[in-house]
Amino acid sequence: MDSELKLTIKDMVVVGKGILAADESVKTATKRLASINTESTEETRRQYRNIMLSAPQVEKYLCGVILFEETLHQKSDNGMLFPKLLAKKGIVPGIKVDGGLADLDNGEQYTKGLEGLGNRLEEYKKSGCRFAKWRAVYSISEKTPSPAIIQRNAEDLAKYARICQEHGIVPIVEPEVLIDGTHSIIKCQEVTEKVLKAVFDALNKENVAIDLTILKPSMVISGKQSDIRAGVQEVAGRTIKTLKKTIPSELPSINFLSGGQSPEEATAHLNAMHTLNEHLPWYVSFSYARALQEPALNAWKGKNENIPAAQKAFLKRAKLNSLATMGKYSEDMEKNE
Ligand code: G3H
Repeated sequence: MDSELKLTIKDMVVVGKGILAADESVKTATKRLASINTESTEETRRQYRNIMLSAPQVEKYLCGVILFEETLHQKSDNGMLFPKLLAKKGIVPGIKVDGGLADLDNGEQYTKGLEGLGNRLEEYKKSGCRFAKWRAVYSISEKTPSPAIIQRNAEDLAKYARICQEHGIVPIVEPEVLIDGTHSIIKCQEVTEKVLKAVFDALNKENVAIDLTILKPSMVISGKQSDIRAGVQEVAGRTIKTLKKTIPSELPSINFLSGGQSPEEATAHLNAMHTLNEHLPWYVSFSYARALQEPALNAWKGKNENIPAAQKAFLKRAKLNSLATMGKYSEDMEKNE
């Protein structure tokens, strides 16, 4: 099992490359398509995924793609199952395995989906998936996140990760501190530190192999509705400081989510982390959904004739984020690319 996991890690930790999260549930995909006045059907969702997964030479920038279950059984315009198409390009296919969020009495949310996970992983493996993703969320307000949700999410993320590794699947552990709210960056830093500490304590307790795990955290950032929003350098500095305090060096890769940042912000923040002149013990890259896809979605507008423009917009973001993982991005490139 270990050699299988090691090979997947090797294929997913590649300088200059990152992960595309194309794992929106049907509900979320429907919301995205509604924003371009396009009806959400199995076929329009397939067309949308096809734009990105079939983009020419996308393998130069991506080492992995997180898929949603529906996409596993869909085919590209050329008639190839999407997981097979990715594998052929040398991109590792993965799968979102959590069952989404459920409400708790105090207004917080936990993540469903542990039941029957092992059996589902076996099925996903048959479809070619080699890694999985599980997302837990934490909202910041006066009373949240509560110690109880921090503990519960940590334990569930750890159980999920252990089950994945038992089935030869690399777990992506995604604790997302939500950007919504008026909180300061300092508050976000405090919360993120607590959350990550709890997650790694739980992973250790559950005997999860940290060196065969990928972390997908949120950045330490000001609340979206905050009057004073920290600048790029501060976000990068506080994020790396918090990660260094909480994450062991044997973790191979940290792949950030974008979490509602604009595409340009998400790229600039990642780039700044690589220009801090600090040693980073892990590979630091991206696993963005919105920050990679938004420009493509807006260029496509659900129309066939816009597919080349949509693919161009997607490849631009993929390339700029690839440069950011090496600290080689600059704002001027936004105009030139
Ligand atoms: O679970 C969320 C996605 O994998 C990342 O999405 O980059 O839009 O936050 P995002």
